[in-house]
Amino acid sequence: MEPNPPKRKEPRKSLRVKVISMGNAEVGKSCIIKRYCEKRFVSKYLATIGIDYGVTKVQIRDREIKVNIFDMAGHPFFYEVRNEFYKDTQGVLLVYDVGSKESFDSLDSWLAEMKQELGPHGNMENVVFVVCANKVDSGKLRSVDESEGRLWAESRGFLYFETSAQTGEGISEMFQTFYSAIVDLCDNGGKRPNSGAGIGFTREQADAIRRIRNSKDSWDMLGVKPGATRDEVNKAYRKLAVLLHPDKCVAPGSEDAFKAVVNARTALLKNLK
Ligand code: GTP
Ligand code: MG
Repeated sequence: MEPNPPKRKEPRKSLRVKVISMGNAEVGKSCIIKRYCEKRFVSKYLATIGIDYGVTKVQIRDREIKVNIFDMAGHPFFYEVRNEFYKDTQGVLLVYDVGSKESFDSLDSWLAEMKQELGPHGNMENVVFVVCANKVDSGKLRSVDESEGRLWAESRGFLYFETSAQTGEGISEMFQTFYSAIVDLCDNGGKRPNSGAGIGFTREQADAIRRIRNSKDSWDMLGVKPGATRDEVNKAYRKLAVLLHPDKCVAPGSEDAFKAVVNARTALLKNLK
C-alpha cells in the first residue's frame, strides 16, 4: 500500500493586533517606537499631538502579525483625545524615564486612566503590558533603579525591560518578547497565559519592599507607631524577616530591604529599654 503523502502544513493565519503607548510626556514613547520601526533617533523633543498612528508588520515564530500602533500623547492636555483609544487593545507599552521619579510614580495613574476608560466590563487582565525603563543611557542621575522598576512591573505580571531609544539598547529584545507574549495571548483565546504566575514572589513581598524603600524612618520601616514597645518592634521585625529573608524571597530588591529591616530594628532596640 502507498504510504500517505505527507500532509502539507497549513500556514497559520496572520494576526492583527492593537498596541498603545502610555506614560508621561517626554519619557520617550515616540522615540522607542521610532527606534524600532525606523531605526533612528531624534534628539529634539517633538511632543505628540493627541495620537500618532502607524502600522507595522512583524514576524513572530511562524506568524506574521500586523501591528496597529497608537502612540499616545503623555501630556494631560490630550486626555480628551486619547481616552477613546484604550479599548480593544492587546498590548501596552508603559514607559517611564529612569531619571524622573515622577514619571515612575505616575505609572499607577496611567493604569487607572485606562481602567476607567475601559469601564466596568473592560478587562485589563487580558492585555500584555511591557514596562520600559527608558533613557538608561542618560548621564543624568538615575532616580529609579532597576530593582524598583522590575519589582513594580513583575509584581503585576508585567514584562520589564531597560531601554534606550537613543542607543537602541533593549529595544529589539523588548519588542520581540512583547509581540511574542501577544501572540501567546491570542493563541490562548485572548487570555493572558499564566498571568502573574511563575515570577517566584508574592504581591505581599513586593508591597513590603516598596513600603520599606519609601519609609521615612526606622519606625515607619518596621510598620510600627513611633514609641512602640520592644515587643512590638520585635514582632514586626520577625514578620518582615520571614517575608523577606533572602533564602525565601527572590523579589528584586529583597536583599537590601531585608538588610534595612535588620538595621532599623537594631537602631530602635538600642534606644529602647
Ligand atoms: P509625548 O509625545 O509628549 O508624550 O512624549 P514622548 O514620551 O513621546 O517623548 P519623545 O519620544 O518625544 O521623547 C522626549 C525627549 O526625550 C526627546 O527629546 C528625545 O530625544 C528624548 N529621548 C527619548 N528617548 C531617549 C533615550 O532613550 N535616551 C535619551 N537620552 N533621550 C531620549
Ligand atoms: Mg510622543
